[in-house]
Amino acid sequence: MHSALYAPGLGYYSSGAKKFGLAGDFVTAPEISPMFGQAFARQIQQVLHAVRDQHVCADILELGAGTGRLACDLLLELARLDQLPDHYFILEVSAHLRGEQRESLMSQLPDIIKKRIIWLDAIPKSFNGVVIANEVLDALPVHLIEQGASSINEVGVGLEDECFVWKSQQLQSEDLLDFVSKLELSEGYVTEVCSAATGLIATLANALQLGAVMMIDYGFSRNEYYHPQRRQGTLMCHYRHHSHSNPFIYLGLQDITAHVDFTRIAEAGVGAGLSFVGYLNQAQFLINCGITQLLELISEDDVVNYISQAAAVQKLLSPAEMGELFKVIAFEKNLDIDFIGFSQGDKSHTL
Ligand SMILES: C[S@@+](CC[C@H](N)C(=O)[O-])C[C@H]1O[C@@H](n2cnc3c(N)ncnc32)[C@H](O)[C@@H]1O
Repeated sequence: MHSALYAPGLGYYSSGAKKFGLAGDFVTAPEISPMFGQAFARQIQQVLHAVRDQHVCADILELGAGTGRLACDLLLELARLDQLPDHYFILEVSAHLRGEQRESLMSQLPDIIKKRIIWLDAIPKSFNGVVIANEVLDALPVHLIEQGASSINEVGVGLEDECFVWKSQQLQSEDLLDFVSKLELSEGYVTEVCSAATGLIATLANALQLGAVMMIDYGFSRNEYYHPQRRQGTLMCHYRHHSHSNPFIYLGLQDITAHVDFTRIAEAGVGAGLSFVGYLNQAQFLINCGITQLLELISEDDVVNYISQAAAVQKLLSPAEMGELFKVIAFEKNLDIDFIGFSQGDKSHTL
């Protein structure tokens, strides 16, 4: 999965193929409507303000910025709210997407904003402000696990007659064995565990001195993720808006993803020294951040714009679309605020 997604020049995220939008493979929330970023900016504004109250610089670090759409919407809205970050750092693995981000952000933003944007090659050692990532955790490589009759196996990739095939061997990693044994899966059950995600959260936790980490993605709590009926796991491929489960075709041309086990993310964050703030579905989070009030700001005379934005917001909020499957998880360190995004609703959303 790592090679298929990240091999230099060949991996899905390393190559120049169009990924986002109608001509690509999938559409993400920031690409659906600028109101996603505008609403999210209200939560970020609150954190940046609280960080500055402690007389330190307040920055944003965005992981995996895609086309740069979210960065653009956030920065324009934060400028309007008079709470621009001192720096907007972007950590992006894809050289191609870095180029796309640079081009679009430099052409769309005024000088006062764009001079704050800096592309990084690694997570900084020390950071104050807000770390954000939309649909990045699902792009991290996972271990594919299978419960055998008498052993827990890791499913890997073999080659037979010049074709890729699934090949299992007994799971070696003690940590993974320990974790998977506790799930008590039934024979034949196939699922995933994402160690890269827990490693990422731990690195961010070490870097963060003051501020918040907020991640948005599709996934579930552990009970739902490893539900007895989810016997085939969540590994999915996306090619030209078709989803299927065969990672051995369209290699490097299709996205390969897995849903996020948010309980594991919560445990990783807390275990690495972050304080858990909340876990909510995307709809409730965006409503708490005022997305419906933003919609009301569109003039009634601007009917065409209103209708298209109302349909886009409906997509972000509807339980049948992105509203329920997508979740927001947040952590903080050394902040003493009530996050507006988690003000209403069950903050732990059955985590
Ligand atoms: C599904 S896209 C989401 C893009 C964007 N956040 C959005 O919502 O439109 C995943 C993004 O994460 C980037 N990415 C994947 N793995 C990453 C990693 N380990 N570190 C940083 N960025 C990564 C990809 O290159 C891509 O920009």
